[in-house]
Formats: sequence, structure tokens, C-alpha cells
Amino acid sequence: MEAPGALIWIKDWRRIASQNYIMREDDPNTRWVKRNALDLIEHEHRIQAQICDTLELIADSLPDCVDKRLCAQVACALREELPLHHRDEECGLFPLIEERALPGDGIAEILARLAMEHATDESFASELLESLDILSEGRELKNPDMVGYMLRSFFESYRRHLHWENAVVLPLARSRLMPQDIVKLEEAMARNRGHEYSAD
Ligand SMILES: [Fe+2]
Ligand SMILES: [Fe+2]
Repeated sequence: MEAPGALIWIKDWRRIASQNYIMREDDPNTRWVKRNALDLIEHEHRIQAQICDTLELIADSLPDCVDKRLCAQVACALREELPLHHRDEECGLFPLIEERALPGDGIAEILARLAMEHATDESFASELLESLDILSEGRELKNPDMVGYMLRSFFESYRRHLHWENAVVLPLARSRLMPQDIVKLEEAMARNRGHEYSAD
């Protein structure tokens, strides 16, 4: 499997939190729009999907044909950006959705399960980091088959997580959250990154 542009996408992750404008792939006429917090989260999901594709590429390349740079970039994203994204959702997005959801939305259980998956995925990611660091330094893995299996388990489970959030959580957020909720979410995301919040 090829992951064209994966390095660019992953590098992009670090910049997007401070961007005021963001590309919307679903609107061919307006490629760049004033971003809001939900656009950012959706954009991060696209990057996470690329990370899953890159992890699949790494698993397919084991043991001898692994791209060291890709391993280093993915390790950085898993170590630093993934927990931040999870915090944005757990401390910002999910509570706001719960507050605005209607009884018939049936979202509380889904959000609780997704939050539990964050903890499981972060602990799984930290186990993978040791192997990704070894690969990024060009060293040999002692147990490439096991690492390949762990990589596949992680990206398969994370793709399911992304599917639920893109198919259920974000559409509900877009239909239920009020403009003041979006501002609260942007404040929470800025706080998580140690930034001063600015609506400009
Ligand atoms: Fe997410
Ligand atoms: Fe999530």
C-alpha cells in the first residue's frame, strides 16, 4: 500500500491548531474557509486516517524495507498529537454534545465508549512507540512479526474509532451545538495547547 504525501500530512498536524483558515475537501468551490473547532477536529481525523494508512505501510514493509523517516514522524504524532486530540474531545467536544443532545439521540453510551477507547488506544500506542523508535533509528526489531501484528491491531481499531466519530459524533455536533458551544470548544482546544484564546 502506498501512502502518498503522508509525511506532509503528518507535519501539517502540528500547524493546524493555530490556523484560522482550513481546507474543506467537501466543498469544491470554497477550498479554504474560516475554520471553526469542528472543522479542525474533522481535519485532524483526516490526518489520523493518513496515519493509519502509514502504519499499514510500515507493517507491510517489515522487517527490511521500512522507511525510517515515516516511523519517526508517526511516532511523533502518536506521542504528542494523539493525546491532545483525545483531550480536545473528552474535555471539550463530548461534554458539550451531551449537554445539547436530545434523549432520542442515544449518544451518551457512544461517547462513553469512545472515551474508553482513547485510554486503550493511548496505552496501545505507547507500546508501539518503543518499536517505532527502534525502526526510526534504523535498528533491527527482535520480533517483527509481533510488531506487525500490534501495528495492524492498532490501526484497524483506530479506523473503527474514526468511523464512529465521523459518521455519528461530528454530524450530531454540527446539528446540535450552538455558536456559543463552538466558542467554548475553541477555548478548550486553545487551553489544551497552552494558547491564549482569540476569536479573530
Ligand atoms: Fe477524534
Ligand atoms: Fe476520539
